Amino acid sequence: RSAKSLVLSRRSSSRSASGTAMASSMRKVAILGAAGGIGQPLALLLKMNPFVTNLALYDIANTPGVAADLSHINTSIQVAGYAGDDQLGDALAGCDLVIIPAGVPRKPGMTRDDLFEINAGIVKTLVTACGEHCPNAVINIISNPVNSTVPIAAEVLKAKGVYDPKKVFGVTTLDIVRSNTFLAELKGFDVVETDVPVIGGHAGITILPLLSQATPMADYTAEEIEALTTRIQNAGTEVVEAKDGAGSATLSMAYAAARFAESCLRGMNGEPVFECAYVESSVVEGLDYFASKVKLGPRGAEEVFPVGDLTPFEEECLEKLKPELKSSIEKGIAFGQK
Ligand code: NAD
Ligand code: LMR
Repeated sequence: RSAKSLVLSRRSSSRSASGTAMASSMRKVAILGAAGGIGQPLALLLKMNPFVTNLALYDIANTPGVAADLSHINTSIQVAGYAGDDQLGDALAGCDLVIIPAGVPRKPGMTRDDLFEINAGIVKTLVTACGEHCPNAVINIISNPVNSTVPIAAEVLKAKGVYDPKKVFGVTTLDIVRSNTFLAELKGFDVVETDVPVIGGHAGITILPLLSQATPMADYTAEEIEALTTRIQNAGTEVVEAKDGAGSATLSMAYAAARFAESCLRGMNGEPVFECAYVESSVVEGLDYFASKVKLGPRGAEEVFPVGDLTPFEEECLEKLKPELKSSIEKGIAFGQK
């Protein structure tokens, strides 16, 4: 059957070449943190996604209710809820893709790094279980601080002897989604045709949108570039402040996570798909992890692309982000090895 995503626009140039693919493979996807602010709408989007056959919803509590609710939707995807440590193994067994939005979100005044103390341990525990129960699965990490939680995941999997750098991704798709929206608004573009690559990391100045490589091409003033870059870098904080203590981005994040998950599944099915994501990398000297444009295929990130030609402003931003990103990576590696 030829499958078109029900919810996700596929016309952006950074995406699939064909726009459709055969969704014939059986694919089990688990969401860890499925009862949360991101987890629930993400589960809804994946219950509507033709590339998924089984959806396993895991959280410390409340997943039986979420699963029962979703299971009444008349799509063919089978949904099951799992709650608590002793059900984690069953949730993960046979998974092709594991998406991890488990952990606490920011409140106003916090940085993403302030979440490290709680979320680092949660990610370590959950990825350890992935290494035991679904060592070949692709892992999409949403839990912040992504700049550190991805290196943590890699170290945990290395210790288990099952690490495949092509299969561990930090999800930075929300940065691309936001960039596309803000640029389209600014220049009056059709947002579906707008595509901004975003590289670096996923926190403040480590988020680097490459407006010089965006499509459609446009002329910008220096002020426009600076203002747009700053808005993209602070967009998460914009939402945290608007929510005023009630958490961070959930709905736009669920959309972004569903898009990235679908791209991973399309890749698994043999369709080459292009996305930006935070991966282990040798693209920038001295940074072992870096968000770059990647080609997704049956084995995960089959190609990680160089940053390409940068403007002097982008070069300057890249130099500025290096020390912060390096220190977040080192913090994650050290915690993962403990
Ligand atoms: P939330 O508090 O609404 O939901 C988190 C869920 O994780 C809760 O249901 C909680 O029970 C669950 N959880 C906690 N410990 C767990 C464990 N050990 N095992 C399984 N589940 C566990 O938070 P949210 O708004 O959904 O955000 C989740 C995370 O995603 C935060 O760290 C946030 O900063 C991050 N986030 C990342 C991006 C990104 O672009 N990568 C965007 C938005 C939010
Ligand atoms: C985002 O970019 O919205 C997330 O990383 C959540 C946050 O804390 O800003």
